[in-house]
Amino acid sequence: MKTNDLKREGFSKYQVIVHWLVACFVLFQIATGSTISNDFLTLKDGKISIEEINKNSWYHLFFGLTIFLLMVIRFILRIILGVPKPTKQSSSITIILAKIIHWLFYLILFVVPISGFVAWNTSNLLIGNLHTASVNALYVLVLIHLVAIVYHQIFLEDNLIDRMTSFK
Ligand code: HEM
Ligand code: HEM
Repeated sequence: MKTNDLKREGFSKYQVIVHWLVACFVLFQIATGSTISNDFLTLKDGKISIEEINKNSWYHLFFGLTIFLLMVIRFILRIILGVPKPTKQSSSITIILAKIIHWLFYLILFVVPISGFVAWNTSNLLIGNLHTASVNALYVLVLIHLVAIVYHQIFLEDNLIDRMTSFK
C-alpha cells in the first residue's frame, strides 16, 4: 500500500491523540473482558436475560465500537498524512519490523472489534473464541511494541517516545 511514508517530520496531533485514546480504551476493554465473557456464556445458555447484563459488559460493547470508529479515523489519517521518517539510528531491519508490527496492529484492531460485535449479535461461541484469540494476538503485538520502544530509548538512544508525546 502506498502511503506518504518518509514525508513527515512528526505525527500530527490527531494521530497522537487517537494513538493514546485507543491505547487507553484497549486497557479498559481488557479490564471489562472477563465480565462480558461471563455474561456472553450465561446469556447464550439462557441463564440470564439481556436486562440482567452487567453494566461493565455494556461499557465493553460501547468502548469496543468506539475503538473501531477510532481505527477507521486513524487508518484514513495514516493514508493521508503518512508517518514520520525513521530515526537516523534505525537500521533497515528495525524499519521493516516496525512497518510489519504497525500494520499488524491495524489488522488486529479491526479483527478484534468486528469479531466481538459478530460474536455478541449471533451468540456464536466459535466467533467468541476468534475474538479471544485475536485479543491474545494484540497482547503479543503490544509486548513487542513496548520492547521496541525500550530498545530505541536505551540502545539506539534516539528518544523515539518523543514522537508520540509531542506533535508537529
Ligand atoms: C479493541 C476492542 C476490544 C478489545 C480489546 C476486547 C477485549 C476483550 C477481552 C479481553 C475479552 C475477554 C476474553 C476472555 O476472557 O475470554 C473479551 C470478550 C468479549 N468481547 Fe471484547 N474486546 C473488544 C471489542 C469488543 C466489541 C466491539 C464487542 C461487541 C460489540 C465485544 C464483545 C465481546 C464478547 C461477546 C466477549 C465474550 C467472548 C467469549 O467469551 O467468547 N468486544 N473482549
Ligand atoms: C494498545 C496499546 C498500543 C497500540 C495499539 C499502539 C499502536 C501503535 C501504532 C499502530 C503505531 C504506528 C503509528 C500509527 O500508525 O499510529 C504506534 C506508534 C508508536 N507508539 Fe504505540 N501503541 C500502543 C501503546 C503504546 C505505548 C504504551 C507506548 C509508550 C510506552 C507507545 C509508543 C509509541 C511510539 C513512541 C510510537 C512511534 C513509533 C515511530 O515513530 O515509529 N505505544 N503505536
